[in-house]
Amino acid sequence: MMTIATQVFHVDPAHPDPAAIAAAAQALAEGRLVAFPTETVYGLGANALDAQAVERIFIAKQRPFSDPLIVHLASIAQLERVAVDIPAIAYALAERFWPGPLTLVLRRHPRVPPNVSAGRDTVAVRMPAHPVALALLQACALPVAAPSANLFSRPSPTTAQHVLDDLNGRIDIVLDGGPTSIGVESTVVDLTQSPPLLLRPGGATVEALRVLLPELKTPEAPLIASEAEAAASPGTLLRHYAPRAPMVLLAGETETALHFLRSAVAALNERGLRVGLFTTDEEAHSLADLQARIVSPGPQRDPAAVARHLFARLRALDRLGVDVILARTVWGKSTRAGLEMAIHDRLFRAAEGRVLDIAAPDALDRLLELLPYRKNTQSD
Ligand code: TXA
Ligand code: MG
Repeated sequence: MMTIATQVFHVDPAHPDPAAIAAAAQALAEGRLVAFPTETVYGLGANALDAQAVERIFIAKQRPFSDPLIVHLASIAQLERVAVDIPAIAYALAERFWPGPLTLVLRRHPRVPPNVSAGRDTVAVRMPAHPVALALLQACALPVAAPSANLFSRPSPTTAQHVLDDLNGRIDIVLDGGPTSIGVESTVVDLTQSPPLLLRPGGATVEALRVLLPELKTPEAPLIASEAEAAASPGTLLRHYAPRAPMVLLAGETETALHFLRSAVAALNERGLRVGLFTTDEEAHSLADLQARIVSPGPQRDPAAVARHLFARLRALDRLGVDVILARTVWGKSTRAGLEMAIHDRLFRAAEGRVLDIAAPDALDRLLELLPYRKNTQSD
């Protein structure tokens, strides 16, 4: 594809400059691509009513055309422009959670081009809670299709720099409104199924949703699909948010982990592999002497901080040039609550589903089996 000059506008996240917003809105109206901050991650926006503009999103991101996009709205009143047969519960959820990190899957209005939803008769919608996103949506007065503004399968962008690292020269404008506050994407709930189904855990917690939606169905384990199946149940592709080096998720108690990681790092070093360790502040502190590059998104007791820094730290691991990544998932399945569900889901996908129970007696052998010995040749 042709390289285009990507323009960056620095805007005050609370009071964005109307001139920058107007320029970005104009670009959207002309069918061009604008990356903007939301409260979750940066989105890559195009006019949702313009099939050609929407197609550009897929090309810029190298996203498969089978993976549908979320349409962003400036108000609840705009729902009827993009969806039909809207159930009462959709309005109730919107009143309670919008603007905010909840995406609802509804029946698509025929005026929304099919490629927005990858040919489905449904459409995903949300109203973001970020002054820059809202100012842009109001100024352009259009529904805006916007997936996360990263290259397909890379960690989602939580700063304008992440957007540029992936998409510089491929999109028209980036509105730089600083780092995003939630850090993981919106929760996606399909209201066209009965009972409603959680498609993706995210910024809005299942506990909060269940107050209005007690019948909400949540999958036991993260929804996983092969590439073929993903076409039927979008957004469930395993390889997602992934750093370049192969990653294994280590599940188990901290006591066990501190012990296991010592032998694991030594065994990997012996095989000539540079190890990246992704863990919490608490564990990182106890492991500082290991021959590994240690990265932490935050303290275990503060899931909001972990969520906020998760993707940035995964990207940081890439720059350290490690060959393999051992990542800790510290929250037990039964105790996982609130944002921990979304955090675990993103780590699970970044690890392409490789999870190791470190309490198992043969855990070290299993680890060596799980890791594809792919040398990291990327240097950036
Ligand atoms: O927080 C967010 O949701 C961010 C910001 C930019 O708003 N956006 C985002 O978009 O994460 P994206 O494209 O990276 O993820 C959209 C998710 C995907 O899992 C997609 O498959 C699902 O929503 N989705 C979109 N339309 C759908 C539909 N019609 N039916 C089922 N799932 C859908
Ligand atoms: Mg995405």
